[in-house]
Amino acid sequence: MFGQLPNCIPSPSWWQLIRWIADPLGFQDQYSRKYGDIFTMWLNPLRPYVLISNPQAIQEIFSQDSKFTIGGGNILAEPLVGQNSLMLLDGDRHRRERKLLMPPFHGDRMLIYSQQICQVAEQVASQWQVGQVFVARTAMQKISLEIILQVVFGLSEGKRYRQLKPLLTNWINMTDSPLRSSMLFLQVLQKDWGTWTPWGRMKQRQRQIHELLQAEIEERRTQDSTGRTDVLNLMMAVRDEDGQAMTDTEIRDELLTLLLAGHETTATTLAWALYEIHRQPYVREKLLHELDSLGSDSLGDDSLGSQPTPLQIAQLPYLTAVCQETLRMYPVLPAVFPRIVQSPVEIAGYRFEAGTTLMPTIYLVHYREDLYPNPHQFRPERFLERQYSAFEYFPFGGGSRRCLGYAFAQLEMKLVLATILSKSQLVLAENKPVKLQRRGFTLAPMGGVRLVMTGKR
Ligand code: HEM
Repeated sequence: MFGQLPNCIPSPSWWQLIRWIADPLGFQDQYSRKYGDIFTMWLNPLRPYVLISNPQAIQEIFSQDSKFTIGGGNILAEPLVGQNSLMLLDGDRHRRERKLLMPPFHGDRMLIYSQQICQVAEQVASQWQVGQVFVARTAMQKISLEIILQVVFGLSEGKRYRQLKPLLTNWINMTDSPLRSSMLFLQVLQKDWGTWTPWGRMKQRQRQIHELLQAEIEERRTQDSTGRTDVLNLMMAVRDEDGQAMTDTEIRDELLTLLLAGHETTATTLAWALYEIHRQPYVREKLLHELDSLGSDSLGDDSLGSQPTPLQIAQLPYLTAVCQETLRMYPVLPAVFPRIVQSPVEIAGYRFEAGTTLMPTIYLVHYREDLYPNPHQFRPERFLERQYSAFEYFPFGGGSRRCLGYAFAQLEMKLVLATILSKSQLVLAENKPVKLQRRGFTLAPMGGVRLVMTGKR
């Protein structure tokens, strides 16, 4: 039925699924060593998933994205984000919705948010006490959640904001370990038998979130929206070619999509960046030197001279390279969204039949020795010495599904790192290496990276 598939992993599909959930990187390493840059796993006995880490083949896939069902391949995310989520759409509806949601996360519009990003980072960092240990990932999640609440939901104060914030954090943290993440992959665990089952608790929180979002949408309808720059406002104002507005359910699903896709990912990457910056003192020194070159008081207090603009910070070459190298070594998603073949296609000399799922793997490409010598070494300089194509380096995926927030995420990372480094002196609280572990659909640092503040700058 699926024709000749490349390098099929022979172990039972249930075992492959467990490995994929518990240790997606070890699993990929093991079979790429054995089979090279294309092999087939079976997470389900009826459905082959072909993992691909050959840049040429990935280019062929990204350039033919219209031949695949991609929304359908994200069905596992539906219980979290709802069926109207951009991630689950395909075809014309996907294109329309992307066109609508893209502008706030790109170009000049994005720079409006820069001030908010720096303020939020400064406010969270100002709570750290000298000598106190804190978990970087938790602190970064506080920052990125606050930013997404302001930018997407337009919420920064009031009763609804105070209710929504802890509820969202608790809801998201329900899949913070491989074991707890397994409920997203195994339907058998998706039983809503009240609050004594993990799934039931998750669903209860989700219902509370839905109610709060619905109340916010209804209240907005009665308010004057002049001057509002948030994405919710934009979604409420938009009309399609037939003059139809988005329904409340559609708006709610997109809000949760942007929230889930947009803040966990950035928080995790920031935590890894802080880890590497403080693991290798020369990286921190180079960054500080570069930041200081922009002005005596890099960020914040303007009394000593002119304050660098967000654009100046975003253009700093070494800071950019540090963010690129972090995204290379620590891809938040082990592979891009699954691409399900609709009708037979030829990729890398193989003919793939309808129903086969193709998965370009970010992790294996980012660790190819021929592209990244000493791939396990954090070396931002490699991005200053060489340019990589969109098929050799793609932390944000590619083709028609390239991450909607890629520009926003990179701006946020640079501004948050610049703010933190210019204001505080930090060191790692522990000397031992931090490992990656599954957190929902993403990969995050085990233990979250513990840091101590040793002083203020
Ligand atoms: C470091 C941060 C981030 C990383 C590493 C990341 C990574 C990714 C990846 C790998 C994809 C799949 C692309 C593909 O299959 O080709 C994706 C999709 C997506 N991302 Fe991001 N992302 C980040 C931040 C954000 C932010 C800040 C937002 C929005 C505010 C966002 C919104 C989305 C959305 C909506 C999609 C689905 C796009 C579609 O289906 O058309 N992401 N992201």
